[in-house]
Amino acid sequence: MLNSENFSSIGDFERQAIANLPPHLFTAWFGGPGHEHQAAIANRQAFERTRLVPRVLSGIGEQTLSTTVVGTRVELPVLLGAVGGQIRFHSDGEIGSSRAAAAAGTVFTLPTGAHFTIEEVADASSGPKWMQLYYLADDELNKLLVQRAEAAGFKALLVTVDNAGISSSERLARFYRGSRTIPWRNLTETIPGKVPASGDCFELVHRHVGWKDILRLRKYTSLPILVKGIQSVADAKLCVEHGLNGLIVSNHGGHALHSLRGTLDTLVDVVDAVGSQIEVLMDGGVRSGEDVLKALAAGARAVLIGRGLIWPLTAGGQEGVERALAILRTELSRAMRLSGVGNVAEVPRELLYLGR
Ligand SMILES: Cc1cc2nc3c(=O)[nH]c(=O)nc-3n(C[C@H](O)[C@H](O)[C@H](O)COP(=O)(O)O)c2cc1C
Repeated sequence: MLNSENFSSIGDFERQAIANLPPHLFTAWFGGPGHEHQAAIANRQAFERTRLVPRVLSGIGEQTLSTTVVGTRVELPVLLGAVGGQIRFHSDGEIGSSRAAAAAGTVFTLPTGAHFTIEEVADASSGPKWMQLYYLADDELNKLLVQRAEAAGFKALLVTVDNAGISSSERLARFYRGSRTIPWRNLTETIPGKVPASGDCFELVHRHVGWKDILRLRKYTSLPILVKGIQSVADAKLCVEHGLNGLIVSNHGGHALHSLRGTLDTLVDVVDAVGSQIEVLMDGGVRSGEDVLKALAAGARAVLIGRGLIWPLTAGGQEGVERALAILRTELSRAMRLSGVGNVAEVPRELLYLGR
């Protein structure tokens, strides 16, 4: 049983997750020795190198932490990102996370690789929900998933494009080969007969998705569409040209390529290029309220958290995630007050010292 009072930072949850998880699971997902942890480290380094330049005597009284993201209202600009197979980490799984997001008034993102189905999560949680899609090779499945999500009241579609079913390392590939026991129930139970003989749902993922595929989704849904995994200004411009509602600067938390920039650094360049034309979000390395404030100052509309969700879920299920979101809220509010910022939608770029 979690004693939430013992947890006062995301780092506390990380330490508890290390204690709770078998070492091979922790290492496969959150990084081990050698080069394969590089991008996750770069994400953290970008936050650590980037400093705040606070303003004083701003006389700010009331604070506004609520905003909208592609039309979804949130009470906190910290969204729960797509994390597949949450049941591996705690039996509350995606149901627990979605309820924790609802309690905080923020978005829960249901991954394609979820244990709980779209309809189960919709029944369990009244909060705002987005659907994450790994674009599948069988287009009929994409259509069915997207339309089910829309029918169940989900508010946006987030398409992951940086890691198309390709394991980022031999370690992760070996981990998958050894653990095919977590079926993607949105496919296995609700669309029988589509799962490969190996039982590995990752085999269903399209290996060479292109813009025409993303555009095809427009025919299936009227939901706002965001692309997740943008890492260059050139691709950010294409998101604008193709009329997307939003883009997420992300390197899959380091689970794609390894020799990458920190996403906070990429975010600055992407916002400079297209920030006035499309909503820009980011993830990768967010661990504190000050990190959130830095990303907002760089021009992100909101951030998403991966490890910041799954470590608390591992440590304490739904209650752990609720506590983590409460900590991030308190930290963000304090950082805003100490920096002279009153509104999450109006964080000035001058707050950042980029140190590069
Ligand atoms: C355990 C784990 C599972 C993940 N599963 C998915 C997934 O199914 N789909 C996806 O788009 N991203 C997935 N991601 C990536 C996250 O959505 C996000 O991009 C990343 O974790 C952000 O970095 P952070 O962990 O430093 O917050 C996963 C990340 C982790 C840690």
